[in-house]
Amino acid sequence: MEELLRVEDMHIFFHGEKGDVIPAVKGLNFHIREGETLGLVGESGCGKSLTSLSIMQLIPKASGFTEGRILLGDKDVNTCSEKEMRAIRGNEMSMIFQEPMTSLNPVHKIGKQIGEVLLLHDAGDPKTIEARTIEILKKVGIPRAEKIIDEYPHQLSGGMRQRVMIAMAMACNPKLLIADEPTTALDVTIQAQILDLMNTLQEEYKTAILLITHDLGVIAEMADRVMVMYYGQIVEEADVRSLFKEPKHPYTIGLLHSVPTLEAEDDEQLNPIQGTVPNLGDIHSGCPFRARCEKAFDKCIEENPPLIQMDSHSVRCWLYEEEEVST
Ligand SMILES: Nc1ncnc2c1ncn2[C@@H]1O[C@H](COP(=O)(O)OP(=O)(O)O)[C@@H](O)[C@H]1O
Ligand SMILES: [Mg+2]
Repeated sequence: MEELLRVEDMHIFFHGEKGDVIPAVKGLNFHIREGETLGLVGESGCGKSLTSLSIMQLIPKASGFTEGRILLGDKDVNTCSEKEMRAIRGNEMSMIFQEPMTSLNPVHKIGKQIGEVLLLHDAGDPKTIEARTIEILKKVGIPRAEKIIDEYPHQLSGGMRQRVMIAMAMACNPKLLIADEPTTALDVTIQAQILDLMNTLQEEYKTAILLITHDLGVIAEMADRVMVMYYGQIVEEADVRSLFKEPKHPYTIGLLHSVPTLEAEDDEQLNPIQGTVPNLGDIHSGCPFRARCEKAFDKCIEENPPLIQMDSHSVRCWLYEEEEVST
């Protein structure tokens, strides 16, 4: 499969209150191929949303900036103007968020909002646009689409609103869909329907998906490859099977132990990771996970490990220093 997006040495910084800059995302490298689903998982505050906003160039200039390259084909979107970005967003890549109400305009009817997306990218007479809008709404499984176009976002359920968001994101058939916690706000049954819908659309349109979630169940269901993020860095990357079968990083192992499974023995306890993700700027040396890690030793305090290449994983942990394979 062809490579669609390549992120090279991405750093995201915030402007601090005293004129300083605070690093939030620290040296990400990854790629996404056409049609695949790459999962990005980690607890709240790890930098997942910042990563997605930065790819879309949606971090406000006043709050922060990105360094590094974000290559979409041979274009580096990190050097694109806002005008160029407006042509890229929606057309080449689009994004859906956890809470559709933040992206849907409450005072405009559903039909008008989808029609506007279509108009931005592909002019057409009002009749054609309306027909396209209805077609798209049907595609995302919205019943009574002809009626829904005249309704306002608040008249729809959470699941239906998320379907409308997906319709807007997919309206111009982007090559990449970034989904940031797309089902976190939904009930489990609705969540399963939305994930199903994303799978169906992906198969039909060969869209690549960057799926961001704190939920390993969603990752297991959807992803081909997974990156685990902690304190602004990737700490483990593997294909989805190897990650669940043989997690390597103590953080990944901890995340897996904090999820209930059907196979678990009755007396097996859920074991949440102690402590919380450190605040930005709190860690100045060593491995950022060491304070929560049962396996930490001297070296972990002194030096932050590099990503170590193993057969089917990359892992940022000194426990695996001896096992590195050269690639
Ligand atoms: N505008 C901002 N100014 C300063 N810090 C921010 C800002 N936005 C996010 N952060 C911080 O950046 C870190 C990563 O945030 P985020 O990407 O939203 O995490 P996630 O999506 O993984 O929960 C958090 O510690 C958050 O507090
Ligand atoms: Mg987030």
